[in-house]
Amino acid sequence: MKALVLSGGKGTRLRPLTFTCAKQLIPVANKPILGYVLDQVKATNIKKVGIITAPETGQFVKDYVSDGSAWSLNVTYIPQEPLGLAHAVKTARRFLGQDSFVMCLGDNVTGQGLNSFVKKFKAEGLDALIILKEVENPSSFGIAQLDEQGNIVRLVEKPKIPMGNLAIIGTYLFSNKVHQAIERIKPSWRGELEITDAIQEMINMGFKVKAEILNSWWLDTGKKDDILSANAKILDEFIQRDIKGTVTNSTIDGRVKVDLDAKIVNSTVRGPCIIGKNVLIENSFIGPYTSVGDGSKIFNSNLEYCVIQEDVVIKDVERIEDSLIGKNAKVTRNPRSRTIKLHMGDFSEVEV
Ligand code: TTP
Repeated sequence: MKALVLSGGKGTRLRPLTFTCAKQLIPVANKPILGYVLDQVKATNIKKVGIITAPETGQFVKDYVSDGSAWSLNVTYIPQEPLGLAHAVKTARRFLGQDSFVMCLGDNVTGQGLNSFVKKFKAEGLDALIILKEVENPSSFGIAQLDEQGNIVRLVEKPKIPMGNLAIIGTYLFSNKVHQAIERIKPSWRGELEITDAIQEMINMGFKVKAEILNSWWLDTGKKDDILSANAKILDEFIQRDIKGTVTNSTIDGRVKVDLDAKIVNSTVRGPCIIGKNVLIENSFIGPYTSVGDGSKIFNSNLEYCVIQEDVVIKDVERIEDSLIGKNAKVTRNPRSRTIKLHMGDFSEVEV
């Protein structure tokens, strides 16, 4: 069995960050989401992994994953124009050969890992196994309708009138029969070859397609608020108290990780939180569910529920909440003026 990790796409909903970074590399708890996905692939013992990349962001993904040896994986990069998830499978046809594969989206992660699904797929000799999770807004997802025995009746991509609330999440397992189905489908109204259509086609062709309902959390980090909730969830699940940096005249409450060479001076940090390497925090309050990336500096400011990437400077800002701040950004306040002065990239968002 092989793995196919989709790390291409356009990432339009996460602009401007995706102009200079692949969205799968946006950190949650100071680690790119793609890193968690590869950890889960590693845990299956699958060794051969194809990584789909997009023309604009492929190099960033390669710089991070390199040859995959950090995860003991043997990685093949597969460049793709982002024309849909089924198009990605089609593009990976040569890499996949006749093998079955588990397909993961590089910006999705679940609390359940992949092993139980791989086991079920193999034990039952399936052609496709899709994973479902109840959602509140079915019109934004591919939705599966099941019969009373739990068999899939039909699948619809982003239904206008939903026929249920079970969304297809970003983990799929396929036998090589998926390629026959993909050959038969046409691009959707949005011009993409949809994986939902390919799975529906597998059902129509009489292949063995089953669904399983996820019994853990699922994080899809496609938008700013999703990144913030993913950050909160991962901090909640994985952060233990671990203070490596220096703490002077400050209070560190609860599960806080302070990395090497970080300095916390005259401040309070309340967990769960992670403070990266070489971070300086002075005269500030860092509230729960905040990640501060390596090299950032925070002076005289209060932060809560934020993802602050690397080398950011924040100075004299009374309160920042629910915010995602990209690398090398500066946020400062001029105490002598009430004017807001902005120097922002395309597609930035500011709420004042
Ligand atoms: P999406 O989030 O559905 O698409 P996108 O990345 O184009 O984002 P946006 O809608 O904000 O423009 O993609 C899900 C995952 O699959 C994501 O990790 C990117 C990846 N992907 C590919 O690798 N190839 C593709 O053709 C598409 C559409 C997505």
